[in-house]
Amino acid sequence: MERLGTAISDLERAVELLQAGKLVAFPTETVYGLGADAANPDAVAAIFAAKGRPADHPVIVHLDSVEPLSEWADPVPDAARRLADAFWPGPLTLILRRAAGVSDGITGGQDTVGIRVPNHPVARALLRRFGGALAAPSANRFGRISPTTAQHVLDEFGDEVAAVIDGGACPVGVESTIIDLSGSEPRLLRPGMIRPEAIAHALGQALLRPDDKQGPRASGRLASHYAPGAPLELVDRDDLLDRLERSAYEHERVVVLARSLQPDGLHKVAWCLMPSQPVHYARRLYAELRNADRLAPDRILVEAPPGSSAWDAIRDRLRRAAVSDLQAR
Ligand code: TXA
Ligand code: MG
Repeated sequence: MERLGTAISDLERAVELLQAGKLVAFPTETVYGLGADAANPDAVAAIFAAKGRPADHPVIVHLDSVEPLSEWADPVPDAARRLADAFWPGPLTLILRRAAGVSDGITGGQDTVGIRVPNHPVARALLRRFGGALAAPSANRFGRISPTTAQHVLDEFGDEVAAVIDGGACPVGVESTIIDLSGSEPRLLRPGMIRPEAIAHALGQALLRPDDKQGPRASGRLASHYAPGAPLELVDRDDLLDRLERSAYEHERVVVLARSLQPDGLHKVAWCLMPSQPVHYARRLYAELRNADRLAPDRILVEAPPGSSAWDAIRDRLRRAAVSDLQAR
């Protein structure tokens, strides 16, 4: 994999590869995306092959502005205009009815399409130079943790992907908020760092909450997703010491992600002090889960995050990471 920088010549190289139907990973404000020319069905198919993702899972189309939206979505409802005005460019994906001519590869054969205008200087510069739309899921293998640095992408794919543009660590750190506007009422499909209250306010209407039993297929909505290799358990702060005692009794090597300092006298425990602010916590979460994985522990224990809506996205990702593959299948 070529590791590109952010100089104009690097972006030109990325565009050349994309135009040739190759995959180029690039930073967005949320996580790194595995980009392909959205207008080239073979390039889009290569995304699925690299990720090992089932063909019926749709991918998000990234645009450089709201202008070409009507080439991808039809109709473009008022609600979409309102949310685009309020949050684009930014970490928000809209699910809309697809326009004629949008390929099945992108929509996973559904009649809807996911669109977002990202707000990262490198993603924006790349999209502008490319002059088209980029299909891009998170640049991780199916079911694994999303990458938030170029090194994560390299670790994940090696030479199976043509290039990655290194734009540093992603500032948001968890995937975009997804709002489905294809039905009769707006529905939150995946919480992100944009608060549902802010979206409801911009819409002038309440949001339906995620309902894992109905609605379109979306891999982020499978029970187990964003999973590290070691079993991950969410533990309430008050139960953490008891839980650690049990692990010690069983001679388990444990990594702990907590928002409080490590107590004295713990053995075989790698303690990672996490930020107490959700925005900072989100930014570090995936990198710390990858670090934890690298230690190959017997177990990862995560102090359960607070219940307030500012933590919705973090709680959602941690809950999914806590469901083992066995439970999910
Ligand atoms: O922040 C993000 O959204 C990142 C960056 C790279 O933009 N992308 C991302 O893509 O997270 P991905 O493919 O890993 O997750 C997108 C989610 C998936 O769960 C996918 O199934 C869902 O969005 N999705 C995409 N198009 C959809 C559609 N037409 N209907 C329902 N869900 C859709
Ligand atoms: Mg993903």
